[in-house]
Amino acid sequence: MKAIGYDQHLPIEDPHSLFDFELPTPTPSGHDLLIQVNAVSVNPVDIAVRKNDEPLSSPKVIGWDAVGTVTAIGDKVTLFNEGDRVFYAGSFIRPGSDSEYQLVDERIVGTAPAKLDDAHAAAMPLTSLTAWEALFEQLGIDSEHQEKNKGKVLLINNGAGGVGSIATQLAHLAGLTVIASASRTETKDWVIQHGADKTVDHHNNFVTEVHNLGIDFVDYILDLKGLDQHWSEFAELIAPNGKIASITGSKEPLDLNILKEKRVTFAWEWMYTKSKYQTSDMITQHEILDKVSQMLDTGVLKSTLTKQLSPINAENLREAHRLVESNRMIGKVAITNL
Ligand SMILES: NC(=O)c1ccc[n+]([C@@H]2O[C@H](COP(=O)([O-])OP(=O)(O)OC[C@H]3O[C@@H](n4cnc5c(N)ncnc54)[C@H](OP(=O)(O)O)[C@@H]3O)[C@@H](O)[C@H]2O)c1
Repeated sequence: MKAIGYDQHLPIEDPHSLFDFELPTPTPSGHDLLIQVNAVSVNPVDIAVRKNDEPLSSPKVIGWDAVGTVTAIGDKVTLFNEGDRVFYAGSFIRPGSDSEYQLVDERIVGTAPAKLDDAHAAAMPLTSLTAWEALFEQLGIDSEHQEKNKGKVLLINNGAGGVGSIATQLAHLAGLTVIASASRTETKDWVIQHGADKTVDHHNNFVTEVHNLGIDFVDYILDLKGLDQHWSEFAELIAPNGKIASITGSKEPLDLNILKEKRVTFAWEWMYTKSKYQTSDMITQHEILDKVSQMLDTGVLKSTLTKQLSPINAENLREAHRLVESNRMIGKVAITNL
């Protein structure tokens, strides 16, 4: 089968940073589906892994967002059949979606939204899973009862990136008042179009920015860009009994003591935890993707696709990596087969 990979950690401008090559087509067993990939999307994790990974003795295939067709199934598969159109983010510890065929455990796969084309659907799995788990599992926000969230304020750091563009929509639907950060005119417009009530600029002090909106404290903070820059501001802004979740991490050690007096909860979100550790709730990723798929089909959620390339090859994948690496991406970029 065709695959795209890398064997050295090269700058994306280098034609060898991602290259086309051939691999044997894998065979499914157990809970695995063999999926023929029709479209992929690129996320910052692709760039981080391509740049910082361990030394390699053979080309590595990455990629964590795809839409495709099930072409064969393992002996324990119960959720899908051959011919089903599916979408998924996949696992951090298995070969990725930048190949003609891929094996994926059925418990982290959803039925693709029927009304969306491949590019619009491929843009959604990784960011939707991350936003859903961060909001409704790690921050503990009730996704079903809007009335419980009425009047509660959520601050999102980085509203216009891939995760922010779906997190703003989900939080708005849950009934929260959403403040999303954006620093350019186009990203401010984008976050308002995707469910934010107000915007603040992440290059400024968040305490000042939020107070300027007439809001003293926020009930929830969702960090989607890095805690180092704003940790003490978050501690000041969070309401007593409030909750903070981050998907990015911190280069410096975090002082959790500054959250103690207000009894604030802090939680990490990592989209790959369930599949990496085969947790007992791993199947919730199948359930979340199916819910998101239905919400996309009914138009309750909008795909966050802003850029489409074709066909899936190393040249277009390098271009998609370059766009994400620019740190100016709005929404998502996807690559489809012709
Ligand atoms: N833990 C997980 O499971 C998980 C899952 C997905 C992503 N992630 C991580 O989450 C981060 C965000 O990824 P993403 O795909 O949502 O978005 P992204 O592509 O990294 O976001 C691009 C946007 O970032 C904004 N930005 C630039 N500098 C910023 C700063 N200093 N502070 C805040 N925002 C800034 C820009 O908006 P302006 O132009 O308006 O400044 C730009 O439009 C990445 O680090 C990624 O690796 C983690």
